[in-house]
Amino acid sequence: MKINTLEKYQASYKQGIEEPEIFWQNIANHFDWSQKWNSVCEYDMHEAQFSWFKGGKTNITENCIDRHLKTKSNQTAIIFEPNSPKEVATHITYKNLHQKVCKMANALLSVGIKKGDRVAIYLPMIPELAISVLACARIGAIHSVIFAGFSSSALAARINDSECKIVITADGGFRGNKSIDLKSIVDEALIACPCVQNVLVAERTNTEISMLAKRDIYLKDILSKVSDKHKAEPMDSEDPLFILYTSGSTGKPKGMVHTTGGYMVYTAYTFKNVFAYEPGDVYWCTADIGWITGHSYILYGPLLNGATSIMFEGIPTYPNPGRFWDIVDKFKVNQFYTAPTAIRALAKEPLTYVNKYSLNSLKVIGSVGEPINEEAWQWYHKNIGKETCPVVDTWWQTETGGILISPIPNISPQIPTYATTPLPGVQPVLMDDNGDEIKELEGEGRLCIKSPWPSIARTIWGDHKRYKETYFTAYPGYYFTGDGALRNREGMYRITGRVDDVIIVSGHNLGTAPIEDAINEHPEIAESAIVGFPHEIKGKALYGFVTLKTPVEDTEKLKEAINKLISSKIGPIAKLDKIQFTNGLPKTRSGKIMRRILRKIAEGNAGDLGDISTLLNPEVVEHIKNGSEY
Ligand code: WT7
Repeated sequence: MKINTLEKYQASYKQGIEEPEIFWQNIANHFDWSQKWNSVCEYDMHEAQFSWFKGGKTNITENCIDRHLKTKSNQTAIIFEPNSPKEVATHITYKNLHQKVCKMANALLSVGIKKGDRVAIYLPMIPELAISVLACARIGAIHSVIFAGFSSSALAARINDSECKIVITADGGFRGNKSIDLKSIVDEALIACPCVQNVLVAERTNTEISMLAKRDIYLKDILSKVSDKHKAEPMDSEDPLFILYTSGSTGKPKGMVHTTGGYMVYTAYTFKNVFAYEPGDVYWCTADIGWITGHSYILYGPLLNGATSIMFEGIPTYPNPGRFWDIVDKFKVNQFYTAPTAIRALAKEPLTYVNKYSLNSLKVIGSVGEPINEEAWQWYHKNIGKETCPVVDTWWQTETGGILISPIPNISPQIPTYATTPLPGVQPVLMDDNGDEIKELEGEGRLCIKSPWPSIARTIWGDHKRYKETYFTAYPGYYFTGDGALRNREGMYRITGRVDDVIIVSGHNLGTAPIEDAINEHPEIAESAIVGFPHEIKGKALYGFVTLKTPVEDTEKLKEAINKLISSKIGPIAKLDKIQFTNGLPKTRSGKIMRRILRKIAEGNAGDLGDISTLLNPEVVEHIKNGSEY
């Protein structure tokens, strides 16, 4: 399974393309299956149908936990580092994790959760989050983790979309010097969620919360009553493992469905190779488990490899911007994986915050979530990697389940801003404006993937038509990623960014439509359009062009109201950095808002708008360009 030389990479790559079934079967054989599969892969790229290891039966938690008990029961599986450095870290061994997951599995069963039921998990980065996820997987319930920064209405929409039967939450959560009242957000959400029967509440902040009789139960009260033994439910390889929502370019979030066998095989394989993980290493991914990065590379990938994985509750700048480096030294972290937005934020701080620490345990450092700019890459490589650690710029998506394009440490060349080469079994292609594959090595186009890999999402929960239309119709026979990319003469890929209406702000994927919908709910607002513009730390920030029904006096107050509305409908991450009130939005003759023009204006390139004479209302552009407001 391990790629340790260039020849091995090349041979694996060749086999992954020429004999994918043999290639993936050999990897799948490393895991425990209660029943072997009948076929390795069946697919139809036109109908968006995929199955991997069909007929096989396994439980991912047996492979994540039970399988390691013989040799690693006293090894730490998860290190929980609390928000406050004054609070001691918790080390959960594989044996402890087994007991805790079994107990939680029994707790879920005791409140009537069965295989196939959906469970919403709305928790801060505390051990109960990891344990709840694994407990769902153990009994075959489908987890839907919802990032604890989402607002009550975003939470309600996600709970209802997949009809979750219960919500697992906490009284509150700590983040930096703030605390978030999660339980009251859940209470507000549940007014609109008739499907939810129970709320299980973990205690973290010990703040006073309201508990609704019969519906709300403290976790500790059920955990104290159930056994710590549980036999994992055998799952079909294609049984859903989880749903994870991601923003699309249209209104409703997409509940991406990942299944069991292929996801297990792929996340395990890529974790081991992309991070060159060796037994005994301590690995840290700073993401939140509310995102796919946390699912695949804090929990499943590392645990499948019997790794020690750190879960950090806090933020990079609390109590000071040296926190990450303090944690790296404290636990002698060997692999560190973070996002460009965090790197840029920390690079702005004095180097003394870094240089206080040795960081000499680090072997590999990684980046994910958005294109990493050259300056950030160099800072990271020099100051954190001390010019010796390979930087793995990993490209992937919620939909892909695992990393598809990334350097392999000490094997692939280091080219700043390049995600470099595809992993074995992955066939990226670039499409030109005519929808044809660019055959030359050097080129720039839209990034598609030509054949399926084991952890490709299987569908959008409840809406296979949307799945097919979003990813498989733009280029029939291919999976379309929504990203643009270029390929150099050596065949290395550089991802240039989204080509659709998704904007990545501080690594968070935000669709413009839901934000516009939120703004348009304001009674004084006629319509709005959101675009991204470059931001020093966030990568991209949001710029809103907003048309009013009638002019208002106090525009500052209205701007505040808009951001408040967005925070309550989606979450603070979707707040606008700039708002410009306009007397109209540039539109095509068919009435479509010309975002391209607004994007140029927001980026400060209003001089280069191209031909606007075919617009329905070219005069509006002049007005906006001048920065005029009502
Ligand atoms: C989008 C997917 C994958 C986990 C986190 C984000 C962008 C991701 C990179 C990278 C350039 C990247 C893409 C992609 N992206 N990694 N290394 N270089 N862009 O998951 O929220 O589903 O977002 O993130 O635009 O399409 P996600």
